[in-house]
Amino acid sequence: MHLGGAHRGARGGAALWRYRRLRAACLLAGPYGTFNPPDGLQQATNYYAALDIPTPKGTLGDWWDANLFSTNGDGPVGPNFVTAEYLNHNDLGFGRGMHCLKNGTKLACYVTNYGLPDQNPQNADDALNHNNPGATVAMEYDPGAVGEEVQFYVYGGGAVRASARLKFADLDGFGPKPVPALCQTCHGGGPGLDGNNKASGAHFREFDLPSYRYPGAKSWDYGQAISATTPSAADFDAFAKLNHFVRDTNSGNEIASTINGWYPGGVFSGRPVVPPTPVSWSGHANEYRQVYGQTCRTCHIARDYPDFVGAGGLTTFQDVSTVDKVCGSGSPKVRVMPNSSITYRNFWVDTPRVHLYETLVSRAIDSCKS
Ligand code: HEC
Ligand code: HEC
Repeated sequence: MHLGGAHRGARGGAALWRYRRLRAACLLAGPYGTFNPPDGLQQATNYYAALDIPTPKGTLGDWWDANLFSTNGDGPVGPNFVTAEYLNHNDLGFGRGMHCLKNGTKLACYVTNYGLPDQNPQNADDALNHNNPGATVAMEYDPGAVGEEVQFYVYGGGAVRASARLKFADLDGFGPKPVPALCQTCHGGGPGLDGNNKASGAHFREFDLPSYRYPGAKSWDYGQAISATTPSAADFDAFAKLNHFVRDTNSGNEIASTINGWYPGGVFSGRPVVPPTPVSWSGHANEYRQVYGQTCRTCHIARDYPDFVGAGGLTTFQDVSTVDKVCGSGSPKVRVMPNSSITYRNFWVDTPRVHLYETLVSRAIDSCKS
């Protein structure tokens, strides 16, 4: 009685409290918990041991050196080194200080999280001003490592050379989860390690500009002109270059086609345009953009199955077993998708979007909420 008492009193009963705990336990763990494996510590230990051959990367400084960044984490001035600051408003809710360095066909990016995972607009300003740095997450792409092109690292607070590598990260305030399975919930592949103790089938991810907030409480949506309340022309060019880098690490998949759709004719500068609606969603452009694009694409675009775009497409999205994962099933009722807390909250507070979803999947208006 002592433990959950305050929660029970505050919000209507034991069932909801239990339901909340169940849901929190599955977030960033996949629908069946497999992305938070019970032997996560051992997996992360084996993972980093494999990544340390031939070059140990136990500190952020080691990682910078191995990936040809300069000693303070900058890169060479020129087209191959790009930085950007923003707030990941639909995904994790942190400020992000992004740094990507292209080296021939290889790509290395590290991003320092700023503030708490709470969508506070200040987080974007903190990223710009380097206040309140949290963990730094990093990724490498090497096309020579066939099947294992993309690998993940996490380093502890401060974003300095001495920042030590971490086997776990808490990206949503619901507790630490292990590398690489945590990263694979949104970057694809997994869960867990392949036969070489590495990650396989993972992807660098597209920069989805309308979903962000920017320093100075700025934001932007498709078609909007550049103004004092949007990012600047130089900012858009930087994101276009980042998307170009990411596109070049993906081919023949939905990440590549979405990025190509944003920058028609392969012109990687300026503002992106509304990407074309995939064939499997034809006649449902609005639902594709509002529902899938804002609620599910943020992870499923990186998954081989289900991506809800290729084979099956909208039909799979409307399937009863898919809808149950969003609207909930069981007793107490558990909703496991969307699988990250900010994406989940953004969906459920947006009543027009929920109604659009309910109509699309043939459920009565407001029936999913109850
Ligand atoms: C909730 C989903 C989510 C999780 C979990 C996640 N990422 Fe990401 N990550 C993204 C998205 C989306 C992007 C694209 C840029 C953005 O929106 O911030 C990204 C971008 C990155 C980038 C820049 C390169 C790129 O892909 O664009 C790095 C580096 C990165 N993530 C590392 C990690 C690591 C390491 C982990 C695990 C500790 C991780 N991420 C976990 C969603 C996630
Ligand atoms: C934060 C990331 C994330 C978001 C957002 C997300 N998913 Fe998922 N989803 C996953 C992961 C990870 C899996 C596990 C895939 C696997 O096991 O291969 C998954 C699995 C599923 C499955 C189960 C597939 C199976 O084989 O059983 C369905 C259905 C699903 N998601 C639907 C959705 C829908 C619909 C949305 C949007 C309303 C959504 N998801 C949003 C991460 C996410």
